[in-house]
Amino acid sequence: MDGNGRWAEKHRKVRLSGHRAGAETLDNVMHYCREVGIKYLTVYAFSTENWKRSKEEVSGLMKLLSSFIKSKEKILIKERISFRVIGRRTDLSLKLQREIAALEKKTAGGDFTLVVALSYGGRAEIVDAAKAWALSGEKGELTEETFSKFLYAPDIPDPDLIIRTSGECRTSNFLMWESAYSEWYFTDVYWPDFDRAEFDKALESYSRRERRMGGRLK
Ligand code: IPE
Ligand code: MG
Repeated sequence: MDGNGRWAEKHRKVRLSGHRAGAETLDNVMHYCREVGIKYLTVYAFSTENWKRSKEEVSGLMKLLSSFIKSKEKILIKERISFRVIGRRTDLSLKLQREIAALEKKTAGGDFTLVVALSYGGRAEIVDAAKAWALSGEKGELTEETFSKFLYAPDIPDPDLIIRTSGECRTSNFLMWESAYSEWYFTDVYWPDFDRAEFDKALESYSRRERRMGGRLK
């Protein structure tokens, strides 16, 4: 979800209003996904590097998150949307950690899953999985399959398509392990402007690709 800050600048607004507009886009995109039958949506909301931003911006983002959690609870339950968080959640305030855990519990078992990456880093996830594996005392050969069980959300399938908005063409530490065979789609549009038409363009591009996963189709 990149480009909130530049969107705000373009509209001569403060950065935080860009993040607020971005939260609305997330709400819309979640519903587009449901309409077309997508079962999982993972969004990069806050990276392990984002802590380096100004105090005001970090606390504004955390507040936005907490209000997203509160204001969406009813609708998530009603629409059977499961809420999940991946990332180093112990970096977050205890209050936010509790709010997240409560919402995860209340929304468990839905038929669509919204995964929010918070204080998330792909390298951090791999390091954390390695530590968890070492601590688990699991015996036997370490394979990709056994290792991946120690990632933050082993029950969530790898993404088919990853969209990055705002014209940046890099992966910035997002789902490093899980994206090994994902299709990437880059668009210049800032996240708050990512509307239904842009979403359809991304899906259309995805549908034209041939995915071989390293194999050959005859
Ligand atoms: C993305 O928007 C949202 C978060 C990282 C929380 P940015 O804040 O990165 O927006 P730009 O890149 O400054 O435009
Ligand atoms: Mg950015």
